Amino acid sequence: MAVRVLVIGSGGREHALAWKLAQASSATELHAAPGNPGIARLAECHPISAEDPDDVLALARSLACDLVVVGPEAPLVAGVADVLRHAGIAVFGPGAAAAGIEGSKSFAKEVMVAAGVPTASRLPVARPPCVVKADGLAAGKGVVVCRTQEDVDRALSELAALGSPLLIEELLEGPEISLFAVCDGRTAVALPPAQDFKRAYDGDEGPNTGGMGSYAPVPGVGDDEVTALLERVHLPVLSELEQRGTPFVGLLYAGLMLTSEGPKVLEFNCRFGDPETQSVLPILEGDLLELLAAAATGDLAGIRSPGAGGAAVTVVVSAGSYPAAGDRGTPIRGIEAAEGLGALVFHAGTAVRGEELVTNGGRILGVTVLGETVADARERAYAAVGAIEIEGSRYRRDIAEAAASGWTASLEL
Ligand code: AMP
Ligand code: GLY
Repeated sequence: MAVRVLVIGSGGREHALAWKLAQASSATELHAAPGNPGIARLAECHPISAEDPDDVLALARSLACDLVVVGPEAPLVAGVADVLRHAGIAVFGPGAAAAGIEGSKSFAKEVMVAAGVPTASRLPVARPPCVVKADGLAAGKGVVVCRTQEDVDRALSELAALGSPLLIEELLEGPEISLFAVCDGRTAVALPPAQDFKRAYDGDEGPNTGGMGSYAPVPGVGDDEVTALLERVHLPVLSELEQRGTPFVGLLYAGLMLTSEGPKVLEFNCRFGDPETQSVLPILEGDLLELLAAAATGDLAGIRSPGAGGAAVTVVVSAGSYPAAGDRGTPIRGIEAAEGLGALVFHAGTAVRGEELVTNGGRILGVTVLGETVADARERAYAAVGAIEIEGSRYRRDIAEAAASGWTASLEL
């Protein structure tokens, strides 16, 4: 009998998850809620509210799901995983308490300090240079890096408008990487390291976004470095959360800055990163379903990190007005041409209107290409992006440029 899997979410990350889960060695029947037109090619989509625990439970029961994989943070913070777990359904994703590692920056800081994980220090007052953060979930818009007093004034007034308490911390400098670990509450298995590109425009200019592109793996962050980071960052957090009676089962995402004093945590997320997932999963060797199912059932001990083959680069095609706004109803053309050039085209903000695929959001598509090296993948990713036609859309031209030109991360471990 086929293993029945339900993926919760509707973005590019969930399309990449569905794509990788569809390659499982066991026969798999995929469902998604609510899904998107790209996911609909791989899974049966169910139009429910992903953030309503009772709706998700009713769907998972009616489908007799063997595993539920929760993509975004909002359903996790809303307690979807708790409700499923209490009902005896295996779920990959933390309960609301452990999801607080992303949902509350002050909780995350407190856990890091208790667990001895290196991170930016908290500062008592906002004085430049510093970073001002809103405490709750803010979809990437809750952080302002302040180098001048004007920045501080602007940060305090902008973030106060979000209504949550503010946190002030030390301004760190250095390249950033994202390191994902699949966790069963106690043990963690690392996935290949990635970099994402958060700013809207080339040269890291403009406002923060959900992410305009990514690549994996990161030159200079090999198996030894990944193991050291896992031991220094993810495992102490897992043990701290377990001790508190709120074990973390799911994907623990560490956003790290490689400072001259060593790697420090900028943030934790309680789910796969978007668009890093679109680069990480295509290079992952091995069976993602087996790995996530083992984590969901507390059974990761003895499972080794899956290997990675080659490199992947993902370029996000967004609405011209993103992140301030999105676009709706503009026809999307050229996906088949991009696929013909070897690309995986992951849908994010798309919809079907009549017979036509149209835009439906800020980030519209992620175009991923695999290659032997980052340079090779990058060249072909841009060729494929060139085949996509969406009036008024844009993309960054410098995704993975440094890594393709010989930049290597150096970790002061
Ligand atoms: P966060 O939502 O905490 O990941 O922050 C979003 C972005 O703000 C990060 O990816 C960094 O680029 C930047 N950032 C956050 N905290 C710091 C810090 N302490 N020092 C420098 N940059 C930071
Ligand atoms: N790419 C950043 C995030 O998923 O939060």
